[in-house]
Amino acid sequence: MRVLGIETSCDETGVAVYDTQKQGADGLLAHAVYSQIALHAEYGGVVPELASRDHVRKLLPLVRQTLDEAGLKIDELDGVAYTSGPGLVGALLVGAGVARSLAWALDLPAVGVHHMEGHLLAPLIEHDPPQPPFVALLVSGGHTQLVHVARIGEYELLGETLDDAAGEAFDKTAKLMGLPYPGGPQLARLAELGTPGKYKFSRPMTDRPGLDFSFSGLKTQVLLAWRDSDQSDHTRADIARGFEDAVVDTLAIKCARALDAADCDTLIVAGGVGANKRLREKLDAMAKKRGGRVCFPRPELCTDNGAMIAFAGALRLEAGQRVDAQVKVVPRWDMATLPAV
Ligand code: KG4
Ligand code: ZN
Repeated sequence: MRVLGIETSCDETGVAVYDTQKQGADGLLAHAVYSQIALHAEYGGVVPELASRDHVRKLLPLVRQTLDEAGLKIDELDGVAYTSGPGLVGALLVGAGVARSLAWALDLPAVGVHHMEGHLLAPLIEHDPPQPPFVALLVSGGHTQLVHVARIGEYELLGETLDDAAGEAFDKTAKLMGLPYPGGPQLARLAELGTPGKYKFSRPMTDRPGLDFSFSGLKTQVLLAWRDSDQSDHTRADIARGFEDAVVDTLAIKCARALDAADCDTLIVAGGVGANKRLREKLDAMAKKRGGRVCFPRPELCTDNGAMIAFAGALRLEAGQRVDAQVKVVPRWDMATLPAV
């Protein structure tokens, strides 16, 4: 089954085609992402109305480009999948409207995909994909969750952030030290230049049992350190390194705990922060030490993309799941309420 995937939940327009006749990475026939970063940069964050309008401009040309790259004509598709939530309502409606209309015109089945399920399944679009059961660490701009996956579609929340998401903490911390939007990847790049240990921040909520996170206090610690410093480029890099190490250590400690709690040896990691190099190294070392395995998508499939939506949608379409012919989105949506595949 060849499925067109469309992602428009926030500030990236993503389109892909996944072919379920093939396995893992081979099934991804083509994928393209158009990022709106430049559009939102001058406002220091995503402006929802501008995001929706840009999706309107970019989505259909990107569908054509992706089909060309896949070497497919539009009537060679077997299904359409789109992100139906969670996300910005206007942005979601653009993807849902286009996807639903294409499916109607081509007489194809369509399915709405949960954005975080898309992220969660992205490590399966690689070679030698892991099979459930596993524990998933979802670390994006809006979510930080540990999820036990007994089977695809069966998601049990083990822990989550009580305040800021890990990506949000990266973004806010970058902003308060004067880095341009989007701060997360910029802060990570700067941290490479910093000296480890110069600034030591706490590893929040690791001194007590449990699998929840809290990152907002860390941001305040950075604010105080930055305000009391000489605010030189050197210091900014040292603080960035201290912050990154604190987030990465905290995530690694909780992942090890979650694997113990779930009696599992496979960890999968997804979402934008999963692109962080130091996090990838740290979790890799942790998993190896335990005799287990950690699986990441390639960095470009950690951040928002259409491939994960095509893949997750294809699994659900193959299982016979469909949505009827109405343009419906779910801006707030609990992944635990999803039907099993
Ligand atoms: O999954 P994603 O693309 O969008 C959401 O669904 O939120 O995640 C975006 C988040 C942003 O907060 C961004 O700063 C963060 O992921 N991010 C990173 C890195 N790349 C993206 N954070 C740390 N290090 C990175 N290399
Ligand atoms: Zn995302």
